[in-house]
Amino acid sequence: MTAIDARPEAATALTFPPGFRWGAATAAYQIEGAAQEDGRTPSIWDTFSHTPGRVRNGDTGDIAADHFHRMPEDVALMAGLGLTDYRLSVSWPRVQPTGRGPALQKGLDFYRSLVDELLGKGIRPVLTLYHWDLPQELEDAGGWPVRETAERFADYAAIVAGALGDRVPTWTTLNEPWCSAFLGYAEGVHAPGRAEPTAALRAAHHLNLAHGRAVGVLRDLLPSTAEVSLTLNLAAVRPLTRSAADLDAARRIDALANRVFLDPVFHGSYPQDLLDDTAALTDWHFVRDGDLAAISRPLDSLGLNYYTPTVVAAGTSAIPSAWPGAEKHARFVAAPGPRTAMDWPVDAGGLHEILTRLRAELPDVPVLITENGAAYDDYRDPSGAVHDPERISYLSAHLAAVHRAIAEGADIRGFFLWSLLDNFEWAYGYSKRFGIVHVDFASQQRTLKDSARWYAEVIRAGGLPA
Ligand code: NOJ
Repeated sequence: MTAIDARPEAATALTFPPGFRWGAATAAYQIEGAAQEDGRTPSIWDTFSHTPGRVRNGDTGDIAADHFHRMPEDVALMAGLGLTDYRLSVSWPRVQPTGRGPALQKGLDFYRSLVDELLGKGIRPVLTLYHWDLPQELEDAGGWPVRETAERFADYAAIVAGALGDRVPTWTTLNEPWCSAFLGYAEGVHAPGRAEPTAALRAAHHLNLAHGRAVGVLRDLLPSTAEVSLTLNLAAVRPLTRSAADLDAARRIDALANRVFLDPVFHGSYPQDLLDDTAALTDWHFVRDGDLAAISRPLDSLGLNYYTPTVVAAGTSAIPSAWPGAEKHARFVAAPGPRTAMDWPVDAGGLHEILTRLRAELPDVPVLITENGAAYDDYRDPSGAVHDPERISYLSAHLAAVHRAIAEGADIRGFFLWSLLDNFEWAYGYSKRFGIVHVDFASQQRTLKDSARWYAEVIRAGGLPA
């Protein structure tokens, strides 16, 4: 690790190690639009967003930020900010309609031109294969609770690796599989909107398996220099008190949020307490011989998405049904402090807690912060400016937490803020703005927010100002 000064008195200007990757992230369904163009078929998010009552205001990703048609303009914005890296996702149904069979060349051509545009401007692409847009036909055949979906994902990974493997240096298999499994199949607030707790546990395993199969494919097809990764939204789980009951509640949530992915991926097993806690729902017979060996293939880095901490206490009051098996044992408690427009408490300490845990538990795995950011109710004032001081202070505090973790010895290679552009915020539609670039969705006009100018300066200086 590059040594940087950990003394508090050095905290007047926080300089990051040379080569630190400064990025921004987006996802296909949230920005691209062009939902029916060039042979793209519906994903579960097209179906879900077109189902009345599922997404706020009936919003859909049909047009989104129209990035599909404005890609060169958007890459020029990135270059203007000085990004070293850009994290994008590929839409599965755009490159392999219906999730089976041959690739669709036109879809691949879009991503090839995007990647070439980035490389031409000196920006490294970081490619996520799955950011939640499962082809609807695969959901109709059972979706993630079904093993076959993991096998189909391996074929899809091979298609994308074959098309872009010569020019994309960093590959991430899945983005936040917790959301796909538990928000999609247990709570049902994300596509495909099913509320079936046992199916959610099956989905979690098959997402893990899909990841493992894809890692195998990527290792076979990509150059040996390629970085292969997985992005998890690990929770900073805090027990409300040190009472045995609160500690047990926190343990249960930690198992369902974190260890259900970390343990199979990095240690080749599911945690026994998770199996015990969910025994009334399933005996996990869907985990077959050989699965865990595939899932635990070594990775080159771990992507971490972090927004807000998770405070847990013992209790039986309603917790979202996203937590199968924990409903009678845990409840969530709002952390104190200011909130973002998502009503998420702002607490950079949680990011430091997770980074510290990863340093202790996975000391040999470099970390990329693949998402961090905040939604606020931004608007263009009469002069055309977008002032977002809260976002600047949110990002600044979280970057300081990253800096502190690096100073303490954590191997953190980069930071990707969420998000480059205001976009389709899933079940919240366009009501929540996470971008550092404001998008007027009626005109598709882009306006740099103050935070974009601030981030450009952070990148230029290689760290936070004094
Ligand atoms: C995580 C997801 O990966 C991203 O798609 C989403 O918009 C942000 N969190 C904010 O909720």
